[in-house]
Amino acid sequence: MAPTTTPERTTHGPAGSADEHDEQTRFDAIIAADQRIEPRDWMPDKYRSSLVRQISQHAHSEIIGMQPEANWITRAPSLKRKAILIAKVQDEAGHGLYLYSAAQTLGVTREEMTQKLIDGKARYSSIFNYHTPTWADMGAIGWLVDGAAICNQVPLCRASYGPYGRAMVRICKEESFHQRQGFEILYELSHGTPEQKQMAQDAVNRWYWPSLMMFGPSDDASPNSAQSMAWKIKRFSNDELRQRFVGMCVPQFEALGLECPDKDLRFDEETGQWISGEIDWDEFMAVLDGRGPANGERLDHRRTAHEDGAWVREAAAEYARKQRERARFAA
Ligand SMILES: [Fe+2]
Ligand SMILES: [Fe+2]
Repeated sequence: MAPTTTPERTTHGPAGSADEHDEQTRFDAIIAADQRIEPRDWMPDKYRSSLVRQISQHAHSEIIGMQPEANWITRAPSLKRKAILIAKVQDEAGHGLYLYSAAQTLGVTREEMTQKLIDGKARYSSIFNYHTPTWADMGAIGWLVDGAAICNQVPLCRASYGPYGRAMVRICKEESFHQRQGFEILYELSHGTPEQKQMAQDAVNRWYWPSLMMFGPSDDASPNSAQSMAWKIKRFSNDELRQRFVGMCVPQFEALGLECPDKDLRFDEETGQWISGEIDWDEFMAVLDGRGPANGERLDHRRTAHEDGAWVREAAAEYARKQRERARFAA
């Protein structure tokens, strides 16, 4: 079982005291020098709570994100495709575990985070509230959703909070495998029969806009962005990352022989960047507020899985208790 205790923290004087002032100065110097804050270092309460929010949301997204693809494991078209998809979904479970562990180093328990998720009080990425009606959706998720995740997450490998940055290094390596397997599924379909090509195009049409929404609202409408960048948790703004992703997709659309559903996409000669058309933020807000196509289904499934897993948690806790008892007896 994962530890659930609060890590020992560096103590400091009351708010506004000379001690706290010194701690804040040290914290600022570490951030300015691009070094890392570790779990037992002093940190401002808002830095801690902001990280707990971001890392736990990220962990929940990995876990909920297993559902739309797990849905296709039994129907994957060959043994090879099944094996790859199982490995991918299993990776996502691992990502959730690294991230829950990173959040735990900030003093929040796994139980608290899980409870918030199943009570519907915690957010996770809105992208996982869409349905996956065809096999081509597995390709579109891998190519676009994991592709957008990589754009978002590579800079997080340098996040100022040590456990988060280190967890992201491994996660990003695995995401890049996910992205390639998705691209490969789409490539095969788009070079197959006309029906297969159409299935690939339809799936890309379904997932393209939601994948652009994954970067979050525009910078001026994103309340936490500026502070998160000042703390060097985030390194680039939502819009910068989104445009970088769009630029990466353009030549890949060509290689796939598929059309980008954004009819207003244009190349800006001055900045040398691809600029996307208008994003439907009303749709994004609706899905975020629980009114997406599969929000209810995702949470119901997570709740049932949590209840079904109760015996595993109890058995693991009992095993850990016996181990501790044996160790005490031996000592
Ligand atoms: Fe992941
Ligand atoms: Fe992934």
